[in-house]
Amino acid sequence: MSAPTRNVASDTRPGLPHWESPPADLKAAITELKPALRARIGASGRSVEEVFAVVEQLITERVEEIEAARRRGDTVWPVIDYAEIEAGTVSAEALARLHRRGCLVVRGHFPREQALAWDAATVDYVESNRFFENYRGPGDDFFGSVGSKPEIYPIYWSPAQMQARQSDRMATVQAFLNRQWRSESDGVRWFDPGRDSLYPDRIRRRPPGTDSGGLGTHLDPGTLDLWMTEGNQRAFRHLFDGTVEEYDPWDAAHRTSGPQYPGSTMCSAFRTFQGWTALSDMDHDQGVLHTVPIPEAMAYLMLRPLLSDVPADDLCGVTTGQVFPALERWHSLLLRAISGIPDVRAGDSVWWHCDLIHSVAPVTGQQGWGNVMYIPAAPWCPRNEAYASEVRAAFESGSSPSDFPAEHYERDWADRFSAAELNRTGRRGMGLG
Ligand SMILES: [Fe+2]
Repeated sequence: MSAPTRNVASDTRPGLPHWESPPADLKAAITELKPALRARIGASGRSVEEVFAVVEQLITERVEEIEAARRRGDTVWPVIDYAEIEAGTVSAEALARLHRRGCLVVRGHFPREQALAWDAATVDYVESNRFFENYRGPGDDFFGSVGSKPEIYPIYWSPAQMQARQSDRMATVQAFLNRQWRSESDGVRWFDPGRDSLYPDRIRRRPPGTDSGGLGTHLDPGTLDLWMTEGNQRAFRHLFDGTVEEYDPWDAAHRTSGPQYPGSTMCSAFRTFQGWTALSDMDHDQGVLHTVPIPEAMAYLMLRPLLSDVPADDLCGVTTGQVFPALERWHSLLLRAISGIPDVRAGDSVWWHCDLIHSVAPVTGQQGWGNVMYIPAAPWCPRNEAYASEVRAAFESGSSPSDFPAEHYERDWADRFSAAELNRTGRRGMGLG
């Protein structure tokens, strides 16, 4: 636990205690922090309630807009053709919609035949290496489901995954998405929008007929560290000092170096957008991804625990070692906006701003496959450069990357992607040149 910092030079507002690693006594830390946050906001001349009301009004307008769109039968998720991204011809209206919703489907990101070939190659890769015979069950209790075959394959280094990660088409979309953020301010370049850090993640292959309870509403950018580390207190400074109107969910300032508290679902990387690429067709009603497509909802999530109806030692249920839950009890306004992806086809990709609340809908007797490769946009920055050394070591030995359970299925698989096959994008993504 770090010593509390009470004052910052040239800043006369009340300082905040901070913890750069998880505090030993979570409730005591929360009980210490909340009055400090209230005092800092109060120093602006407005109360927490007044500041929160500003956020609540904005969010209410967005929620009602989304509900009205749904009533009209409009697609809530923006959709942009890959060809327009590649040609640089995405309209101003489409960009505005992307910013408003914070999520996107890229149509035809890859040719359908390419995506289907990658899916088939993945099956060959795991079957030829006797993965199903050797599968030991879920390595974590978050995505796993009990059964003879996994839905999440803890496989990271197949040729198909690496070909997609280092492809020109992926780099083009990642750069487009990264550029929606402000990557430079105050003389600091917080990240390089044109260079991705090749964050290795897993594959999901969900077979026809699946019954799945889905995954509850949650968000991934952190847990208690969002309120408690010095870096995050700076990143969310406008929420914590009463200047909430200036809060910009697309500003990367102070977001690209700090630690995240450890936990089974932590992500060491800074991701502008999380994403996956579809390796099968998926209809919108077959247990697909949903989001609360309001980037500014983060302001609501961060300030809601400061209202007087939340116990003094509680941050609306957020704790370490578990995902940040979005709950009906505290966040019912936000959850009214939950919106699923439209039908996607193999080769389309799906993206959502790293702060968005998301969930996976339940399904009974799923029709068709539900296959995806998780590939985010994780631009080069100090935080991702640090993690790249872990990625390089895992790549060289065929190990599971350190963000994931230590399952290491691929270490002796001879046909995993080799260093000789890396192109310039792949090498730069892993910090090799
Ligand atoms: Fe998630």
